[in-house]
Amino acid sequence: MRIGVFDSGLGGLTVLKSMLDLLPPADFVYLGDTARLPYGSKSAATIENYTEQNLKFLKSKNVDVMVIACNSASAYFLKTEFENTPVFTVIGPTAEAALLNTQNKKIGLLATRATVNSQAYQKKISELDSEAIVTAQASPLLVPFAEEGLIDDPLTNLISFRYVQTLLKENVECVILGCTHYPLLIHSLQKAVGDLPLIESGPALSYHMIRELNLSKSTEKKKSTVEIYTTDQLGHFQIWAEKILQPYTCDSWNLINL
Ligand code: DGL
Repeated sequence: MRIGVFDSGLGGLTVLKSMLDLLPPADFVYLGDTARLPYGSKSAATIENYTEQNLKFLKSKNVDVMVIACNSASAYFLKTEFENTPVFTVIGPTAEAALLNTQNKKIGLLATRATVNSQAYQKKISELDSEAIVTAQASPLLVPFAEEGLIDDPLTNLISFRYVQTLLKENVECVILGCTHYPLLIHSLQKAVGDLPLIESGPALSYHMIRELNLSKSTEKKKSTVEIYTTDQLGHFQIWAEKILQPYTCDSWNLINL
């Protein structure tokens, strides 16, 4: 199976890494739209426009399935297919995983401004459980910190601590990392929330795809392949992408114009 995946930048690699860990071997095509990052501070119309262009690009690579590994883009994509190809988004599976981690149904959400304002998580969670309460905190500074590779840095610790206060005051029982860049800052975020579970989109989406597509780990020794495309220069992106995807390696690195 060929699986197309996109995000605005490095964040979606946290989802790709989970898919490489959990799905049977597949051929992955990853697009990081680095020329237009960040998405999380853009309007709904702009994000929808970028999403359509990115899906068109992935489709041109003859993929069987597409994954929007970006919460901000997922929040505004309300369909399940694009030009007859199935599209998976991260909101539903991540919301379901969060509900499994609460007893009193109090859920915290850290996400970009676009995702928080879309109300996509709030709506999905109340659809799944009308008694659940979501406290959301837009955390726009975390994406540039993740893109800069400031992982477990004193500055990241400070910002994480500041952002989670709104959630801790409401006694949430778990915190959704509602942006695929945030797992890159997991050390700082975990320190900030103490022992509360942090819910990531990568594993939630991968298990959802395994169920929906009826996939099973094959015993076949075939190895997954990974083709990477970015819309801006590769240098910094490639250095961090190689670290994030370890122990997996990529088969090709390409710069494109959408
Ligand atoms: N990683 C993306 C998300 O999950 C977006 C980050 C951004 O471009 O603002 O929302």
